[in-house]
Amino acid sequence: MTEAFFCNSGCEANEAAIKLARFYGHQQGVDSPAIIVMEKAFHGRTLATLSATGNRKAQAGFEPLVSGFVRVPYNDLDAIRAVAEHNKNVVAVMLEMVQGEGGINIATVDFQRGLRQLCDEKGWLLMCDEVQCGMGRTGKWFGFQHAGILPDVMTLAKGLGSGVPIGACLTAGKAAGLFKPGNHGSTFGGNPLACTAALTTLATIESEGLMAHAEKLGAALRQSFADALADIAGIVAIRGQGLMIGIELDRPCAELVTKGLEAGLLINVTAEKVVRLLPALVLSEAEAKELVERLSALIRAFLTA
Ligand SMILES: Cc1ncc(COP(=O)(O)O)c(C=O)c1O
Repeated sequence: MTEAFFCNSGCEANEAAIKLARFYGHQQGVDSPAIIVMEKAFHGRTLATLSATGNRKAQAGFEPLVSGFVRVPYNDLDAIRAVAEHNKNVVAVMLEMVQGEGGINIATVDFQRGLRQLCDEKGWLLMCDEVQCGMGRTGKWFGFQHAGILPDVMTLAKGLGSGVPIGACLTAGKAAGLFKPGNHGSTFGGNPLACTAALTTLATIESEGLMAHAEKLGAALRQSFADALADIAGIVAIRGQGLMIGIELDRPCAELVTKGLEAGLLINVTAEKVVRLLPALVLSEAEAKELVERLSALIRAFLTA
């Protein structure tokens, strides 16, 4: 990527990306620029990012939402081509290469490559929200690297500062050089403390081989959960990439979060039925083993109750 705009959070980074797409659109002579976004996407809780988010429950009560988003099913290139046919206002596509809040849904390599090609043909910006799946979590620095493509815009936060609040909106290709100083900024954006945390995080991920570790341990975790839960009904799928793992059940299971807390386990349930695991990249093999034992017992008790 060519340049970075520093922010304080993931939603601010995505807000900057959305602004950038609109700015780009206006430069192309499009008066009402539109951005294609995905069903089940999560991009944040500020007004524009909430409007880009594909979750009616999260949006409820905050209407009117920001206009200018067109929603399509995930992994469906034909749906995007169909939008391109009749909507001449589209200037960008924004998506997560692995949807986190949406229930650990992975963009296929064909979809990612097709999307890159379509964006090139149409002159659209390809904007990847790597806030949750970036920074080594999937076994590579960024989710789009699994397809060998490069977006025009990417956003980062979460793992970027290892807990210190920092976000970033990075640009390349036709998105680079659009924003001038002052087009996006915030008092604390790019402050020395947060940037030092991010630089140290980058160096540590590299020097400790944490991406290879995430890939290997993630695969082992998925296999161990599959083995541990093989004999019970109610598991729909165990999927993921690196240390971004989802265990989908056949029923709503939000109560597992409280049951987990009571048992000393911090887990999350997204998309109503998916137990989502985003362990620290430094998770050890022994901790992974303990996680499988304790969480499988919890899921087993829940499904057989
Ligand atoms: C993919 C994605 N984008 C954006 C955000 C928003 O980030 P933040 O909570 O830092 O504003 C999140 C948060 O969960 C996320 O998962």
